[in-house]
Amino acid sequence: MEKRNILITGGAGFIGSHVVRRFVNNYPNDTVINADALTYAGNLENLRDVESEPNYIFEKLNITDSEAVRAIFKRYKISHVIHLAAESHVDRSIEGPMEFVMSNVVGTVNLLNAAKEFWTSGEHVFHHVSTDEVYGSLGDEGLFTEDTSYDPRSPYSASKASSDHFVRAYFHTYGLPIKISNCSNNYGSHHFPEKLIPLMIHNILNKKALPIYGKGDNIRDWLWVEDHASAIDAIFTNGRLGEAYNVGGLNEWTNIELVRFLCRLMDEKLGRTEGDSEQLITYVKDRAGHDKRYAIDATKLENELGWKPSITFEEGLSKTVDWYLSNKDWVAQVTSGSYKEYYSKMYSDRN
Ligand code: NAD
Ligand code: TYD
Repeated sequence: MEKRNILITGGAGFIGSHVVRRFVNNYPNDTVINADALTYAGNLENLRDVESEPNYIFEKLNITDSEAVRAIFKRYKISHVIHLAAESHVDRSIEGPMEFVMSNVVGTVNLLNAAKEFWTSGEHVFHHVSTDEVYGSLGDEGLFTEDTSYDPRSPYSASKASSDHFVRAYFHTYGLPIKISNCSNNYGSHHFPEKLIPLMIHNILNKKALPIYGKGDNIRDWLWVEDHASAIDAIFTNGRLGEAYNVGGLNEWTNIELVRFLCRLMDEKLGRTEGDSEQLITYVKDRAGHDKRYAIDATKLENELGWKPSITFEEGLSKTVDWYLSNKDWVAQVTSGSYKEYYSKMYSDRN
């Protein structure tokens, strides 16, 4: 196989850093170019262990800048793309949708245009990483399949759905070699503490209130981030061009049951009396337009590419808590400064 120059966008973020690490380590003959704007969610500390590898390069890039995107394609002769850069938090999208339009929609189209311009011959892949939230919200029954109609309901999911449509349109209209993956909620190390699991871990540790939106009966399917990275690798490497693959953990939890489970796990690890942390649970005002349930049918990925999650939720959550307990400096760094303002804006008058 010819040497590949793989552009990974958003590689300094939560999922992106796991994908970068996997590709740098597993494909030493390829070059991985991590291009990231380093927004509040991007952190080069996430990649200290790979930054001196000879096949790793970091470039600060805002994908909303079409000329800067073109320059990266040209400079590094990009042959493959794994596109993760995005604004990713639903609550922030409710407060300010335009940044989501810019990074998630315009940014994606800028990357597609550069690929279309520079990929005139040879082997290429444009893998777009997306979410199951594009399918909307499920009732008590059923699972999202790749044939489920798109029905996004938050500004975040609307922007991701739009980007998925553009990616597919470039396949049908211009023959761009694309693949899409739609994954359920991830958890694991290096997760910014604005999302449910890392926020709860952080608050349990600091004996702060645990804000549960609404009744806590919304359901999410949770997948360990390294299993998502392995699914991306499988799809990027062996998935069919023009196809979408759902990725999920067959692991549904109501938010309240998940938080109770996390409280018990952390009480045990921290040597606290059982039941201590559960007392911190506080029901707060619901999220606007809160999707009830997400659940994934990942049969296509399993049947075609033999992918399965490698660990149980119990194992994954235990590893995740251990990581946060032994990386308090990382947490202190990402929760200093603007995080405090964010937290007070989102939670101070929610009770
Ligand atoms: P994240 O918010 O942790 O990281 C996003 C990264 O993108 C950050 O490093 C940020 O600096 C970068 N970025 C944002 N805007 C940019 C721009 N304009 N130009 C360049 N870089 C920019 O997000 P995440 O949770 O790691 O998600 C990564 C991708 O996976 C996203 O596309 C998201 O929609 C998708 N996804 C996430 C989940 C999940 O549970 N977190 C599930 C399925 C799919
Ligand atoms: P989140 O981690 O933001 O992911 P998403 O909205 O993309 O699924 O939220 C997961 C679930 O947890 C969702 O139903 C909203 C809920 N939630 C809370 O109850 N409290 C919180 O403080 C947060 C951040 C989320």
